[in-house]
Amino acid sequence: MDEYATFVTHLECSATGARFAPDKLHGLSDAGKPLLVRYDLEGIRRAVSRETFATRGGGFWKYREFLPVRKNADVVSLGEVMTPLIELPALARRAGAARLIVKDEGRLPTGSFKARGLALAVAMAKTFGVRRMAMPTNGNAGAALAAYATRAGIETHVFCPADTPEINVREIALAGGQVTLVDGLINDCGRRVAEGRERMGWFDVSTLKEPYRIEGKKTMGYELAEQLDWRLPDAIFYPTGGGTGLIGMWKAFDELQAAGLIGDGRPRMVAVQAAGCAPIVRAWQLGADHAEPWQDAHTIAAGIRVPGAIGDFLILRALRESGGFAIAVDDAEINDGLVEVARTEGLLLCPEGAATYAAWRAALADGRIGAHENVLLFNCASGLKYPLPPA
Ligand SMILES: Cc1ncc(COP(=O)(O)O)c(C=O)c1O
Repeated sequence: MDEYATFVTHLECSATGARFAPDKLHGLSDAGKPLLVRYDLEGIRRAVSRETFATRGGGFWKYREFLPVRKNADVVSLGEVMTPLIELPALARRAGAARLIVKDEGRLPTGSFKARGLALAVAMAKTFGVRRMAMPTNGNAGAALAAYATRAGIETHVFCPADTPEINVREIALAGGQVTLVDGLINDCGRRVAEGRERMGWFDVSTLKEPYRIEGKKTMGYELAEQLDWRLPDAIFYPTGGGTGLIGMWKAFDELQAAGLIGDGRPRMVAVQAAGCAPIVRAWQLGADHAEPWQDAHTIAAGIRVPGAIGDFLILRALRESGGFAIAVDDAEINDGLVEVARTEGLLLCPEGAATYAAWRAALADGRIGAHENVLLFNCASGLKYPLPPA
């Protein structure tokens, strides 16, 4: 089968609800806000059942009815896998808690969950004949973009903060990306992409500035639902930078329900940030709908050093709708968490993943999470991509 049905009906502005045509290249909506892909969920309901997915391989590509790619030839693959759920029984027991699980995204190509979003963005860029893509990145997204785009024959221009971990910079360059180090943070890198866009003919694949990365990231929601026998956990702790995965999973759960695969139970979504860069946490505490940019952002968890997110209102909305919250942990807690999980359970987390563990501990201590709650943490990248603490 060269082509399969997509159930995409249209794209929708996440702020105004305005509709846009599918099957063409899109950036932001005309209101300057992220676009969301909408599907004929009734049609998907008729086409699939839980059993449909049980027999398929191919990692996240197996949820293709919920994805926008039409032609098999446009699928770009580096051997995606369904990432494992790993129980942390000793730590759960020690804390007197019900169940603690890590979804370990470090097993994906390029060693992080960024593979999901960028595989989709590159597949769609290939569909629409894009020749050059550009993005600002804290490292992992750039590595995934370079890998998938090179494989698809697309040129990439990647802008990283000058202090991005060396391994990420080399990884991007080795995979064929043209890397520019910028004296500043990811938002400064984003400005460089915006400046070059017209002049250089780049397609801007910045977080949520094109509609398809989120479609890839949302597959985390389908996958964890299927792995948990279509019963969602009580709470999901997600290390939040641009928030694509959190917004994406929230969207995925609605789609799964409309397609008849899950009921109306939802996890509480918890956005985890670093104390040195916590714009969403501050906005949450203020009860605001939008987050003001964070000044002088710093943390060892490079992936969540995002001072301002274009999808801030969508993150905050998902937290509110789910009865969740936003929480910050400092670098010492992140480091201690990383060491504790490795020493106790033998599982190496990345700092961003360790932040979710530290946040769970803190939330359990202050009562925001109950001991009875089944909690799922996201380890979003391989711990081996980062400088390790001394043994
Ligand atoms: C390891 C890691 N964790 C978390 C994030 C944040 O992800 P999101 O943009 O979906 O909030 C990133 C993004 O760069 C990352 O690389």
